[in-house]
Amino acid sequence: MDKRTLLVQMREKSLEGGGQDRIQSQHKKGKLTARERLHFLLDEGSFQEIGAFVQHRSKDFGMENQLIPGDGVVTGYGTINGRLVYVFSQDFTVFGGSLSETHAEKICKVMDLAMKNGAPVIGLNDSGGARIQEGVVSLGGYADIFYKNTIASGVVPQLSMIMGPCAGGAVYSPAITDFILMVENTSYMFVTGPNVVKTVTHEEVSSEDLGGASVHSSKSGVAHFTAANEVESIKQLRTLLSYIPQNCEEQAPSIPYETADEDRPKLSHIVPENANQPYDIREVIEQVADEDSFFEVHKNYAENIVVGFARLAGKSIGIIANQPSFLAGVLDINASKKAARFVRFCDAFNVPLLVFEDVPGFLPGTDQEWNGIITNGAKLLYAFCEATVPRITVITRKAYGGAYDVMNSKHIGADMNFAWPTAEIAVMGAKGAAEIIFKKEIDAAADKEAALKAKEAEYANLFANPYRAAERGFVDEVILPEETRYKLIKAFKMLENKVDKLPRKKHGNIPL
Ligand code: HXC
Repeated sequence: MDKRTLLVQMREKSLEGGGQDRIQSQHKKGKLTARERLHFLLDEGSFQEIGAFVQHRSKDFGMENQLIPGDGVVTGYGTINGRLVYVFSQDFTVFGGSLSETHAEKICKVMDLAMKNGAPVIGLNDSGGARIQEGVVSLGGYADIFYKNTIASGVVPQLSMIMGPCAGGAVYSPAITDFILMVENTSYMFVTGPNVVKTVTHEEVSSEDLGGASVHSSKSGVAHFTAANEVESIKQLRTLLSYIPQNCEEQAPSIPYETADEDRPKLSHIVPENANQPYDIREVIEQVADEDSFFEVHKNYAENIVVGFARLAGKSIGIIANQPSFLAGVLDINASKKAARFVRFCDAFNVPLLVFEDVPGFLPGTDQEWNGIITNGAKLLYAFCEATVPRITVITRKAYGGAYDVMNSKHIGADMNFAWPTAEIAVMGAKGAAEIIFKKEIDAAADKEAALKAKEAEYANLFANPYRAAERGFVDEVILPEETRYKLIKAFKMLENKVDKLPRKKHGNIPL
């Protein structure tokens, strides 16, 4: 056989993966193959493969006779909307996508290239875990990947798509990356599977109920996005990438924008007269952000806080907003963790932060205290304090107690703080405050209810407004709701070249 034909044949063999039967079985499960996924993920014709002929080195259990070029993972680079990305896509048709020493080396190689060249790494995970025939060598391969994930964290964005099994210690690579996307009904993640769970705890649970997309997007918060099928999930990833920069030295891409009619009259009708009535903060976000630009992250988890990317005058921003329509927008453990992680991603990758604040405080109770609202609430506080990107807050209504400080107040480094006339900036709500500080007078009054009402009104009159804070400069400007978009565009433009540096240190010690 001439040398040219040999190469052509070798290429063909490597494209076959585990063979037609296994490809069909993959399709029957409603899953695409590793290469089909790359086809949908990357710009047409942009994929360049690296390491197509890599083979494992295992000689046990007859493995020396089972050599499949590529060794269960397709790696390389390509573009998404013209921007460079590095990819690895595990091939379940080859030894169940299991991770061998060489499989791990291929992944590490693209991660190294991504770090040196400053571009995101996207992992498409579909694997039976450690290559059982290889033993500890495979575990070493995982550890090499975990190490590189950690070193790359904050340098280049790392995105994990879960498109099949992801079990055992293998879950920790995606867990270290910035975002996890899962496909409903065909992907799952857990440290120990249903069988082990049954043996240890006697619980009977299916893979889906233990670690499927719905569980991880709503209960555990492990997954940031879910989609009904793989193609939808890939579309989500492409959208997500459009909001974030290539690396920590760059800015996210922006869309050309001419400031036009920025008055948004609808904003004036969203906050109800009654301070205890809920409203959907997403309506505020949608009125303020560029049309159809809000891309929510962690939508079904800790719904009392809303986080996501949006564009303002064509530029990417990260939004963190209390959600009055869910648990009155209270801050609890999960909300704090969710928002803290998002703030840190945005700060690491130069995405300015916009906060909408309407928060009655931290959630009281034994459940919260015993599970560590102190440490977890401090995560959000710490994340905001540490963030050096442009930071703006708009107080739409309640800014009570410690939550006022935490939600990107001027005191912890926000650059601009706006408040609507409906803002109430106080230690607590007027009723609770009156009950405490006027307790004696109320108890002594003939009509206690009337006395409480009068004192409540007195307190509300003094503090349930934005003006005491504005007198101190804690609020930079009280604005009409309809002016918000215009004011924010101006303010973020003013902050465009902000330089703020933290003191030299090895690293801080965020209360994990
Ligand atoms: C080698 C594996 C494999 C593995 C699957 N295969 N997992 N080969 N190492 N870990 C092979 C199978 O032998 C089979 O080969 C093919 O992949 C498809 O597997 P099936 O079982 O037929 O597929 P399915 O029914 O869809 O089940 C998928 C599965 C199951 C649920 C993932 O294969 C499974 O339970 N695998 C073992 C999972 C596991 O315990 N892994 C180790 C976890 S510990 P043929 O030739 O028949 O096609 C771990 C530690 C990581 O990962 C630690 C990091 C710190």
